[in-house]
Amino acid sequence: MIFNALVFGALLAHSASAQNMLRFACSQLTIERADPLVNPGMVPTPHTHQIIGGNSFNISMEPGTFDPVKESTCTSCTYSEDFSNYWTASLYFRSPENGSFHRVPQFANVGLQQDGGMTVYYMPYSAQNNKMTAFKAGFRMLAGDPSETKNNRISICHRCLGNGEGFAPCDSKDTAELPKKYCPKGIRATIIFPSCWDGKNLDSPDHRSHVAYSNAGGLGTPRCPSSHPVAIPQVMYEVMYDTGRYSDQKYYANGKQPFVYSFGDALGYGQHGDYLFGWKDDSLQRAMDALPTGRCANANCSVLKIQSAQDSMKCKKKQHYQENVGQNGEWLKELPGGVKVMN
Ligand SMILES: *[C@@H]1O[C@H](CO)[C@@H](O)[C@H](O)[C@H]1NC(C)=O
Ligand SMILES: *[C@@H]1O[C@H](CO)[C@@H](O)[C@H](O)[C@H]1NC(C)=O
Ligand SMILES: *[C@@H]1O[C@H](CO)[C@@H](O)[C@H](O)[C@H]1NC(C)=O
Repeated sequence: MIFNALVFGALLAHSASAQNMLRFACSQLTIERADPLVNPGMVPTPHTHQIIGGNSFNISMEPGTFDPVKESTCTSCTYSEDFSNYWTASLYFRSPENGSFHRVPQFANVGLQQDGGMTVYYMPYSAQNNKMTAFKAGFRMLAGDPSETKNNRISICHRCLGNGEGFAPCDSKDTAELPKKYCPKGIRATIIFPSCWDGKNLDSPDHRSHVAYSNAGGLGTPRCPSSHPVAIPQVMYEVMYDTGRYSDQKYYANGKQPFVYSFGDALGYGQHGDYLFGWKDDSLQRAMDALPTGRCANANCSVLKIQSAQDSMKCKKKQHYQENVGQNGEWLKELPGGVKVMN
């Protein structure tokens, strides 16, 4: 196991005192079939996403012309200068009794206060010479791939909480796939983004090739490949799914588990995350530069503007395509968009 992952794990285990990274809550902004990165302009898109961040989120957000900082009037994140959008697939419980679907609600991570949404991390572990180059306006990227059929635990993983937790994110106690057993304290989905950039392109046709994982993949190690020499903050999402409520042991009989992602993946290899940068001015760079000074950590970075949990929870947005995706706990006869369960 790499040293940095060990350090990170130790920090994470004591997250209240963890230094040297931002770790903060973003509440739910909207849950809808929209994806301005992969399917710009399409209403509705094939599958449901849960979206957090600035309320300028729209079906189309062209780099260079669309400015989330100018267009947003609020953000669902702790840091009120962060109008970025972050999104992932939603997770559904499929009843083995009647085949109906129920969106798995989310809960707040340790020490945080939020309404659904996710935990967002900006980590410096890949910093070369301790220097981190924050993203430029218009930057966006993807991690994971809904069509992934291989185990890629290094960047996409699930932890079965309440069952003998692991240490660092995506370590050997985590699984690439959705856990096959009952997870009484929830399932934590982790999405780790690349930490190296080609230094030129804000995006690329596949939204991936302008960025790269550092040499050992997954959580950053100190060296970026020469094709992508610029160390960028390593973005990571954690999504805390409240699976404890689906406790009937028969849901987990015969090595099966009852959960499926909104794009039909019941295995979980295809979990993915989208990132669209939208921090105001140089605020993210300021925060990255302040990390080594100890004046900036987690959800209490003194060089950034912080809003109350109440204010961040108030920032909501109506769906562009209005439909029932189980956002209020409704049971659905099928996955939104008629998506079929694949595996
Ligand atoms: C979304 O985009 C459309 C046009 O593309 C625009 O008319 C609308 O005002 C935008 N909404 C928000 C909230 O930015
Ligand atoms: C389907 O079954 C679940 C239990 O597995 C139950 O809670 C739910 O109410 C049922 N839904 C419908 C629409 O029958
Ligand atoms: C946040 O940091 C400031 C100093 O930068 C400190 O006074 C305050 O107690 C911290 N708050 C929390 C909740 O950690």
